Amino acid sequence: MPSLFERYTLKDSVLKNRIVVSPMSQYMAENGVINDWQFGHLTTMARGGSGLVFTEEVAVAPEGRITPFQAGLWNDEQAEALAKAARLIKQNGSVPGIQIAHAGRKANANRPWDGDAHIPAGDSRAWETIGPSPISYGELLPRVPREMTIADIQRVIADFAATAVRALDAGFEWLELHFAHGFLAQSFFSPHANKRTDAYGGSAENRRRFPLEVLAAVRKVWPERLPLIARLGVIEFDDPQLDAEKIADSIALTRAMKAGGLDMLDVSLGFNTPKARVPFEKPGFLVDIAADIGRQAEIPIATSWSIFTPDQADAIVREEKADLVMLGKPLLANPHWPYFAAQQLGVESPSWVLPAPYAHWLARYPRDEHGRSIVPARDRVHRTIPD
Ligand SMILES: Cc1cc2nc3c(=O)[nH]c(=O)nc-3n(C[C@H](O)[C@H](O)[C@H](O)COP(=O)(O)O)c2cc1C
Repeated sequence: MPSLFERYTLKDSVLKNRIVVSPMSQYMAENGVINDWQFGHLTTMARGGSGLVFTEEVAVAPEGRITPFQAGLWNDEQAEALAKAARLIKQNGSVPGIQIAHAGRKANANRPWDGDAHIPAGDSRAWETIGPSPISYGELLPRVPREMTIADIQRVIADFAATAVRALDAGFEWLELHFAHGFLAQSFFSPHANKRTDAYGGSAENRRRFPLEVLAAVRKVWPERLPLIARLGVIEFDDPQLDAEKIADSIALTRAMKAGGLDMLDVSLGFNTPKARVPFEKPGFLVDIAADIGRQAEIPIATSWSIFTPDQADAIVREEKADLVMLGKPLLANPHWPYFAAQQLGVESPSWVLPAPYAHWLARYPRDEHGRSIVPARDRVHRTIPD
């Protein structure tokens, strides 16, 4: 039976455990170039002991950035900075992964802490957004995107492939295509956003075409020996009937992606409509859906959302509901979550999920998540280096 701290092998990549730092946008890049903030952030995440660390969403083209501060990978300067990030993740004991994306109609917003809303047209930081159809997301993101022409579609597909080549050259070992969260590929897949009447819209088969063509273009340039995965939004939580259809469509798309060379599905949310009522408060609310899709499409599964405790994460792996557990906010709250998880799950020498300069001392003087010693005072050994 697999467990959270068991190794995981996919293609030629071996992860030391099943904990993954989920992609988390930092919105701190300048002209798409990541900087000291992300170097510190990704180093901290890698040191924390997770088996795989994903960068934030990295845009394949300037107009595909969620905010003007989004990381990008369409030029050499951006590639150089991301290569440094990949090196830092490896040096600190983890495997580097990158998520690549185009934000489509959700692009060109302010940062979440600056209000999250679309930058108004006419503002010097505004750019034209594109999407499958001239339909806005609504509420804070009211901008109507320009309907993409076939030439636009081909250009963005080529952008994904070019970014994948740069990601490989930069040293990343896992590549995740972002087909979720209402961004461009997800909005082609979604009847909420895609009302096209050509080969890219209408039937479920046509709505699958854009993500499948992106995958095919990337598959040609990403080596077979390394994992190529996709994050797919499989449910909206807006309407039970539509949700059931969306899950069925997602299984069909996943089967087609698997036939097209996809190695794993990262199950996530659609976020195509502000009407969604996602049950964030319910622990692991997506896990059973993810497990079902994995079984039906016969593909390895990663998933995230409201997975809080080590027991919960371990049970997901032990019950074979997912192969990898992607964590976001728990790792922001505590980047050393894997150390405490290893303690709580009774893993042998738990501190050694961390690098030696931390592990050695915590092996000698174990700490709980509050920093309190968990060795009874009578067993403490006096050392020349103070506790
Ligand atoms: C600060 C922050 C930034 C995020 N940025 C991204 C992103 O760039 N790409 C993505 O696919 N998901 C992003 N997410 C979603 C996470 O990857 C993850 O799926 C989500 O937070 C659910 O996991 P959690 O409940 O453990 O936080 C972000 C989440 C947070 C908290």
